[in-house]
Amino acid sequence: MPKDLFDVTDKVVVVTGGLGQLGRQFSLALAARGAKVAIFDLHVDERKVAERFGTRATENRFLFVRADITQPDSIEAGLSLVNAKWGVPHALINNAALDSPPDAPAEESGPFETYPEDSWDRVMQVNVKGVFLCCQVVGGQMAAAGRGSIINISSIYGLVSPDQRIYEYRRTGSATFFKPVAYSASKSALLNLTRYLATYWAGSNVRVNTLTFGGVFNNQSEELVKAYCARVPLGRMAHEDEYNGAIVFLVSEASSYMTGANLVIDGGWTAW
Ligand SMILES: NC(=O)c1ccc[n+]([C@@H]2O[C@H](COP(=O)([O-])OP(=O)(O)OC[C@H]3O[C@@H](n4cnc5c(N)ncnc54)[C@H](O)[C@@H]3O)[C@@H](O)[C@H]2O)c1
Repeated sequence: MPKDLFDVTDKVVVVTGGLGQLGRQFSLALAARGAKVAIFDLHVDERKVAERFGTRATENRFLFVRADITQPDSIEAGLSLVNAKWGVPHALINNAALDSPPDAPAEESGPFETYPEDSWDRVMQVNVKGVFLCCQVVGGQMAAAGRGSIINISSIYGLVSPDQRIYEYRRTGSATFFKPVAYSASKSALLNLTRYLATYWAGSNVRVNTLTFGGVFNNQSEELVKAYCARVPLGRMAHEDEYNGAIVFLVSEASSYMTGANLVIDGGWTAW
């Protein structure tokens, strides 16, 4: 056990969707503690990277890779860049995902009976198949190296149904609104992908865990924030940096006996 239980110095970590709200937080938090962070995202270009990471982007602790997690070739090409710069990764954070925000187009948020089949396919493609492929490619390499930690990011909506009552404010006049089904089903799938791989790779010393989050404040409408917060025991949404501690825990040796588990951080949403 290292002196600092939560030491992540020089750990090579692949963060998918690292340009997004939470991926950026995880990447900055890990790099600040000495990790080497490879960000795989669809939208990697100079302007976007500068917008999201400012002057930190030039630090040698970051590698920005344009990669599509639904394409095995793209993940493999990204991994080759990581290997050339830093070797075999120590951790993979499967964070990239598609959600349907409260301002999604009407056909995405109508009744279940007419939820579009292609929306289902699009969400499953990224949120489930993309995670499966990253585990296969990046996890497979970590297993061959005999060590690693995979963190699959899920949501309270993968543990329990969305509480459709909090979207009541969207149902004015003839408007219907339902938080769609695909996101929930996709996030549930990660729970058992985690358990499957935790047991499959236990002998290769690759730990696999799910990290389940509640809603994060991101300038959502006042009505949504009010309705959401009334439903949370802690009475508020998460701040965007409040999941960083769990990420550091799962990447570091502090979690060395943890595999196949689901760590829930949701302000108490699933407690009642
Ligand atoms: N923000 C929340 O309130 C919240 C709550 C619970 C769980 N989560 C989970 O946390 C994770 C991050 O959420 P976020 O709010 O930061 O999302 P975000 O939308 O801000 O970021 C997602 C990132 O993934 C990237 N991405 C999408 N498809 C991709 C693909 N095919 N290949 C590579 N990259 C791709 C996007 O470009 C984007 O940068 C997600 O798994 C989400 O389900 C978020």
